[in-house]
Amino acid sequence: MTDSNGHSLAVANYWDKRGETYGRSWQSVAKKRLSAWELDLVKQVFKNKNKAIKTLDIGIGTGRISDEIIRHRVTHYATDISRTMIDYCQKKYRNSKRVKLLKVHDILKPLPKNWDEFDLVTAYRVLSYYPQLTTILKNIRRSMNDGGILIFTYPNIDSLVAIPKLINGKGWLGNEIGYNELKKIVGEAGFSNCRIIGSSRLLDTFYDWSDNQMSADFLFTIEKILALIFGPTRFVRLFYVICKK
Ligand SMILES: C[S@@+](CC[C@H](N)C(=O)[O-])C[C@H]1O[C@@H](n2cnc3c(N)ncnc32)[C@H](O)[C@@H]1O
Repeated sequence: MTDSNGHSLAVANYWDKRGETYGRSWQSVAKKRLSAWELDLVKQVFKNKNKAIKTLDIGIGTGRISDEIIRHRVTHYATDISRTMIDYCQKKYRNSKRVKLLKVHDILKPLPKNWDEFDLVTAYRVLSYYPQLTTILKNIRRSMNDGGILIFTYPNIDSLVAIPKLINGKGWLGNEIGYNELKKIVGEAGFSNCRIIGSSRLLDTFYDWSDNQMSADFLFTIEKILALIFGPTRFVRLFYVICKK
């Protein structure tokens, strides 16, 4: 078993190598549509907000989520465990007045002391590498304002892509969780108003392949039918959690 620090280092190495090519994996028509759906959860937080808020994007990657956040009136902070990703985003946002600070940081550790009072924290497609979800959520909560909103994703154990792990113990990304357990952990970490939704059931590869309007329409129609049959969260690949401090 790898210790948590060793595991974080391996994850950092992977993302250092991947670098800005990650942004390209969101270029197909279907992936763009999925991304727009994910970003809509962020947009909703800003509805009816008329004063500037303090925001934090954990695991910024190439800035897919931060791009949306800084379209609104914010003072924005972001972290990533990968030096390459932070260097890339520092260049990308060098002229943005809304981006205050980007920093290499491992979310398994508490956030820097003066990083506090965040009104919105996002952690999309980051926490799945780590089984220590309660510790991470407690670390994040400490840095948030009362009433602040946290949005994060975590893979669903009850999904088609988790089947190989159930059979031979080898995972997709490493960690998956069930709906009820996830809800319990979020509550135990001190968050309330927990809403859990899901997006897709089909493999990511189909989303990469669907690079024209027709195939994307077809893919989303199948997803819609599956959602009608199974309901909003059963068998989804990723859970999206929206909760309040
Ligand atoms: C799949 S990408 C997601 C990027 C972005 N959140 C998005 O949704 O487009 C995962 C990112 O999380 C970062 N990451 C992984 N482990 C992390 C950790 N322990 N602390 C902070 N960032 C981490 C990786 O370096 C990578 O940039």
